[in-house]
Amino acid sequence: MTQKARKILVTSALPYANGPIHIGHMVEYIQTDIWVRFQKMRGNQCIYVCADDAHGTPIMLRARKEGIEPEALIARVAKEHKADFADFNVGFDNYHSTHSDENRHYASLIYQRNKDQGNISNRTITQAFDPVEEMFLPDRFIKGECPKCGAQDQYGDNCEVCGASYSPNELKNPVSAVSGATPVDRDSEHYFFKLGNFEAMLKEWTRGGHLQDEVANKLGEWFEAGLHEWDISRDAPYFGFEIPDHPGKFFYVWLDAPIGYMASFKNLCDRTADLAFDDFWGRDSSAELYHFIGKDIIYFHALFWPAMLHGADFRTPTAVFSHGFLTVDGQKMSKSRGTFIKARTYLDSLNPEYLRYYFAAKLSSGIEDIDLNLEDFQARVNSDLVGKVVNIASRCAGFIKKRFDGKLADQLDNEALFETFVTGGNHIAECYENREFSKAVREIMALADKANQYIDEKKPWIIAKEENREQELHAVCTMGLNLFRLLIGFLRPILPATAEKSEAFLQVPPLAWQDLDRPLLDHAIAAFKPLMTRIETSQIEAIVAASKEDLEQQGSTTTISDGPLAKDPISETIEYPDFAKVDLRIVKILKAQHVEGAEKLLQLTLDLDGETRNVFAGIKSAYDPEELEGKLTVMVANLAPRKMRFGVSEGMVLAAGPGGKDLYILTPDSGAEPGMRVK
Ligand code: MSP
Ligand code: ZN
Repeated sequence: MTQKARKILVTSALPYANGPIHIGHMVEYIQTDIWVRFQKMRGNQCIYVCADDAHGTPIMLRARKEGIEPEALIARVAKEHKADFADFNVGFDNYHSTHSDENRHYASLIYQRNKDQGNISNRTITQAFDPVEEMFLPDRFIKGECPKCGAQDQYGDNCEVCGASYSPNELKNPVSAVSGATPVDRDSEHYFFKLGNFEAMLKEWTRGGHLQDEVANKLGEWFEAGLHEWDISRDAPYFGFEIPDHPGKFFYVWLDAPIGYMASFKNLCDRTADLAFDDFWGRDSSAELYHFIGKDIIYFHALFWPAMLHGADFRTPTAVFSHGFLTVDGQKMSKSRGTFIKARTYLDSLNPEYLRYYFAAKLSSGIEDIDLNLEDFQARVNSDLVGKVVNIASRCAGFIKKRFDGKLADQLDNEALFETFVTGGNHIAECYENREFSKAVREIMALADKANQYIDEKKPWIIAKEENREQELHAVCTMGLNLFRLLIGFLRPILPATAEKSEAFLQVPPLAWQDLDRPLLDHAIAAFKPLMTRIETSQIEAIVAASKEDLEQQGSTTTISDGPLAKDPISETIEYPDFAKVDLRIVKILKAQHVEGAEKLLQLTLDLDGETRNVFAGIKSAYDPEELEGKLTVMVANLAPRKMRFGVSEGMVLAAGPGGKDLYILTPDSGAEPGMRVK
């Protein structure tokens, strides 16, 4: 293999910085990481960059809800994301943020160049505006009654009850999901990217072998529907980059998100000698550029992104690789079934390499959804990895250590078999290159079966007991370990940590693909330590249970038993000192009033025997303010004050019931007085 090394830049989509990584996301990062590790193993220069997607309305609102600055939120989430990826052995060469100087630079540059080329227009549009929060509302932040079936609380542009789709302004009795206020129409000037200017270029590009066939066909439909101007601006308040020369106007998050790929790479270049930005992004770049994405974001990557790049005189991607969505046990990941599994929840119970292997065994180059069947996952990992692969080493290693001073023989027992493996490696490499990972896995496991068959036939444990068969025993075990070495080499992109442990056991440097065809002979190895253990059913159950617990912490209920408390199970027991920490007091409701713009809250002024407290309580749908005034109730008096959108809440009143109209505040028996402690 004296082929010239390729120069390759690879990206995965940038995860949003407002939530945790879950195992659905991991399909993408694992798929990309396997491909990148394969390229590196082949001796190519392959650079893998990613970043957090840190801008947009949801992130701004999430930070507000937590009472922190968006910068603090995205810093915290970036730390969590990086830890999740690192612990899944995803080996980014750089992980950056779209909220960075580099990204501001390239976003402005790409915008400016497109503007100079006549690719940006502006006009005034009318949009829903929240008069309380003084902000324009994205569709998904407007809710109301379905215009078709009347179902309440439907968001955006389709009804979850009857399935109707409509435009958000058809919703009946619309309210802002942010403040509860009724939206009003308001005008504002917006900036647009003229996608239509790129029709010819895009038609050629999308048919030029840069996309999977099924994706190119899908795009054909979009071309027929016509390429519309794309709104790339948003009004303040917005967490993002202000548009140069247009104060109060910001780039829409999806404008600067893909530019984050460049920004992350630039950030790496600035820290790395011999890595030049233009070599990879310049119009005449000879490097390869690949984006791995989910099928939900094809439009952005296969139309807007190449057009923006082209209009700004940068190179376009070599290819965009889309994948399907993860289902668990045949269904969409579900919080109530405990199958909405966070990366961290998985990692708390199981070795990341199991999931990497299972995804690899399921992934193809297409965009079909892939299913994680939990039973199949356990069975497959146990039988393939533990039962077949690792087993080969454990069956041979002991004899080498005990009988041959830890040294391999200088000859293989069956060179033809070794050659079969080496030749098999060529096709396995082709499968990796074409992202046909499930085929690669199938072929590797077929070879693992052959290796086990070989050992079963030779029966080293019998040879070992017989006299004058030392040399044969040595050759057979050396053969077995050499087959093991090849299998681990083939699996290395999928199982980097297991490969590393195996390399330590074999006392060899990191396995490179071109070294695999030379056997390991007359070579000292280390003592064998178990490389992997079986998945126990209890570990899977723990993950599912913990995923349900996560949900309870968010305040919703799940069904875990069939008794009368089924909908609201009794919590775990606590010790008395834990309970004693909660300072419950009798209080008198001096005043109760509506909060302008709040959908669920009443503002209560509470008397704690001389001290007054301001508390926001979510009981508006159950009580009229008048009927509360003068009543005694119970509050948590030592709850840390919490900044809410409408002011600071200094404690909490207690109420029972599922919510809505069905909520009952607790009132003490006669004789109780404000300030008394509830014990
Ligand atoms: N921030 C955008 C991407 C910007 S790229 C310039 C985004 N973020 S995301 O967090 O919602 O998703 C990140 C990636 O994970 C996307 O490619 C998405 O398709 C993928 N997945 C999210 N959920 C998934 C599954 N359940 N299954 C498979 N992939 C999934 O989109
Ligand atoms: Zn409906």
